[in-house]
Amino acid sequence: MKRPYEKPIINKLHTGLMNKFGRSPAYARKVRSEIDGASIDSLVEKYGSPLFVYSERCLRQKHRQMHTAFSTRYPNVVMGWSYKTNYLSAICAIMHQQGSIAEVVSEMEYQKARAAGIPGEKIIFNGPHKSLAALEKAVKEGAIINVDHLDEIYDLEQITQKLKRKIHIGIRLNLDAGIYPQWSRFGFNLETGQALDAVKRIKQGGKLILNGLHCHIGTFIMETSAYAKEIEKMVGFAYEVEKTFDFSIEYLDIGGGFPSKSRLKGVYLPPEVALPSIDEYAEAITHALSKALRPGDFPKLILESGRALVDEAGYLITSVVASKRLADGTRAYVADAGLNLLFTSFWYKFNIEMDREVGGINEHSVIYGPLCMNIDILDEGVLLPPLTRGTRLIISPVGAYSQTQSMQFIEYRPAAVLVGEKGEVDLIREAEDLTDINRREKLPKRLALSSAK
Ligand SMILES: Cc1ncc(COP(=O)(O)O)c(C=O)c1O
Repeated sequence: MKRPYEKPIINKLHTGLMNKFGRSPAYARKVRSEIDGASIDSLVEKYGSPLFVYSERCLRQKHRQMHTAFSTRYPNVVMGWSYKTNYLSAICAIMHQQGSIAEVVSEMEYQKARAAGIPGEKIIFNGPHKSLAALEKAVKEGAIINVDHLDEIYDLEQITQKLKRKIHIGIRLNLDAGIYPQWSRFGFNLETGQALDAVKRIKQGGKLILNGLHCHIGTFIMETSAYAKEIEKMVGFAYEVEKTFDFSIEYLDIGGGFPSKSRLKGVYLPPEVALPSIDEYAEAITHALSKALRPGDFPKLILESGRALVDEAGYLITSVVASKRLADGTRAYVADAGLNLLFTSFWYKFNIEMDREVGGINEHSVIYGPLCMNIDILDEGVLLPPLTRGTRLIISPVGAYSQTQSMQFIEYRPAAVLVGEKGEVDLIREAEDLTDINRREKLPKRLALSSAK
């Protein structure tokens, strides 16, 4: 093939520079021709580019690993799949098959879980906005409801009157577990006494029965000790509530937040070095439970893990559609996926693999997305050999939050496929087209162009 002419420039070479782990990021750049046996070529040929690809094997393995880590150390463990992390029906179905109940944070997610056949009593309903109607439905269906604020308590009391029965609820706590900035906007603060006041209010109302405590200290928590602190405070509070108000706390829901093997921007160490294993989290948490709980007490331990279960199972295949030189000489590429699909690239530095061996000198390059927006940058300062148009980049891990936060902005959202454990490929979300964009719109007759189809 004839190569297009490009004006020569003089550039400093960066090949072979080692970081302190004795490794050059250039050499670390890997070639990936398949995902669990499904070739990148055939995936793109059949389903187009960009394309989200999920590995069923990885999903099931992560779930098994986490469940084993906790259930071999504590006798009463329940896993609740955090829908918002990825609520593609196929992903949720795998999590439910593995034994997770649903953890939802909105009416929409609640409806999604119910539509998938999950009964109300297997849904944990969290979140700061639950409409009165959604709350009433969840109560009637026996969902586990974790209250975020006082107004929700008033709503639930109203529902008890309508239904003429008492309602069991949990409350969400926020507390200082040593993670800063502290997530204090959800639930009731423990240290200031706000949480205790809320329980007092619940007791005085006489209509609600507190039987659970919930807390989610944040996401991508890199310290196992933060969970130990969380447990210590939650158990202490549970006993205080039991003693003072005669409520019996049956579950401690410690939220999610375990990291995936992704790389937070600004964290120098690679994830394999920087992050504890899931067994280390389980050990810290169950050890803290055994220290804080009275002998014979085994309240249900609920985990709402999202990212740690799904992130590494997700890949995004994107194609290089153009290469150019910027005015300052920087090599730039335009890819067909950008911030519209990887909003998460604001916080994470993803692995970028290529679908083929590419020879040539590595250069610090920038990868732009397809949006006609200056902020649409997938990565900067990446050492890449000269990529030709059509090279596919495989970006990972992107299983957590990328699909659910993807935007229909400027471009259509792409297809998503699941690679099964035997290498079989199933389409789990069709690529969008113009009908998806226009479906909900109404054009007043007087504005219709006569030439419109
Ligand atoms: C209440 C609640 N539970 C669970 C999760 C899942 O968190 P992660 O993906 O960090 O495990 C979140 C995410 O923010 C959350 O808000």
